[in-house]
Amino acid sequence: MKILLLGSGGREHALAWKIAQSKKVEQLYVAPGNAGTAEVATNVALKADDFDGVADFVLKNGIDMLVVGPEDPLVKGISDFFRTRPELAGIPVIGPSKAGAQLEGSKDFAKGFMQRHGIPTAAYATFDGTQLAEGQRFLETLQPPYVLKADGLCAGKGVLILPTLAEAQRELANMLGGKFGNASARVVIEEFLSGIECSVFALTDGRHYCILPEAKDYKRIGVGDTGLNTGGMGSVSPVPFATPAWMQRVEQEIVRPTVEGLAAEGIDYKGFIFFGLIDCADGPKVIEYNCRMGDPETETVMLRLKSDLVDLFEGVAEGNLDQRTVEVDERAAVCVMCVSGGYPEAYEKGFPITGLHPEGCVTFHAGTAVRDGQIVTAGGRVIAVSAYGKDKAEALAQAMQGAEQVKFEKKYLRNDIGRDL
Ligand code: AMP
Ligand code: GLY
Repeated sequence: MKILLLGSGGREHALAWKIAQSKKVEQLYVAPGNAGTAEVATNVALKADDFDGVADFVLKNGIDMLVVGPEDPLVKGISDFFRTRPELAGIPVIGPSKAGAQLEGSKDFAKGFMQRHGIPTAAYATFDGTQLAEGQRFLETLQPPYVLKADGLCAGKGVLILPTLAEAQRELANMLGGKFGNASARVVIEEFLSGIECSVFALTDGRHYCILPEAKDYKRIGVGDTGLNTGGMGSVSPVPFATPAWMQRVEQEIVRPTVEGLAAEGIDYKGFIFFGLIDCADGPKVIEYNCRMGDPETETVMLRLKSDLVDLFEGVAEGNLDQRTVEVDERAAVCVMCVSGGYPEAYEKGFPITGLHPEGCVTFHAGTAVRDGQIVTAGGRVIAVSAYGKDKAEALAQAMQGAEQVKFEKKYLRNDIGRDL
């Protein structure tokens, strides 16, 4: 079978690494990919949101399945684009319809969906530009800190957590005034939840689902979870507090009602659902949904998935995911992200990278490019170094040993991934 995977980050390299191990795969292409995906697949110079270019490539190369890594093409409707064109309609897309991708594309939609289906989440209200005064009065009824979320996609920057009422009221005005452009034309104001976060992943064919290994990501730049938010500085799987009993609650109270709710609303959803959860005193609650896998969670989840991912994808495509099995490696996995110095603020690119294949580790490229035959840094997050261990401490030690060998100018990393748990 010939597969085209869309995307270019560490998540896509990890997916490509896993897909390439399947005996069912004859040829794997990644568009646009990066220097790492080129080691396990053939890169195609196409942007993930160039639907016509993707369609053209799929038809000319006899692609049998499209797997979508990032949210952007999904929210823009790439699945619907395939479904509504007769020549493409028979090619399965792993990734939900535009309506399904609204779980991530619109915070207001996601909150309304959870409310309709009794899925535990923070209390909220949504306001638009004509309702600034109402929004500010609503803030007065809440306790600090205040959580403001731009309704639309903001590349991970659309959530503000503010310590005082005055700041929250000022930021609400800024957001409704266009701080994040059209994405903050509506703002969700939410009750603040406290607890530890955990990312749970399901794959669904629209009726059945399977749950993949859970993971925790580390968003802050600094050791000890300090400093600015990033795209993710590392991940660990499994998550100790996600015990079988806890996961059973997550399945019963969150995963199943989500899949059933989508079906009940007639929303076509074939793909990954990412549940960003928080473990509150009264049980797990949903902080956010994403319509794709997490990054850098995928860089540990794929290590622990023993089953053939392409077999699961076939289950999604054929609607018989209930007949496939998810086997999980008992070992722990940790991912340490090597980033460019200065990230998540301004940083330099173009530094040569060496030591890319440390022994005992699996490295995934997050932001790399090839320049004059040399692999160079090309993003904030550069190389994800993942490793197994009998427990998370051993996996971290192994990943750290590997990450020390990956060398480029101004490299930075966090050495405490998983230590807080
Ligand atoms: P989101 O983009 O919705 O995942 O939000 C980004 C981050 O903000 C989450 O990973 C949480 O750490 C935090 N966050 C979002 N909503 C809440 C909330 N209601 N209470 C506490 N923290 C939150
Ligand atoms: N690691 C969080 C995300 O992928 O959104």
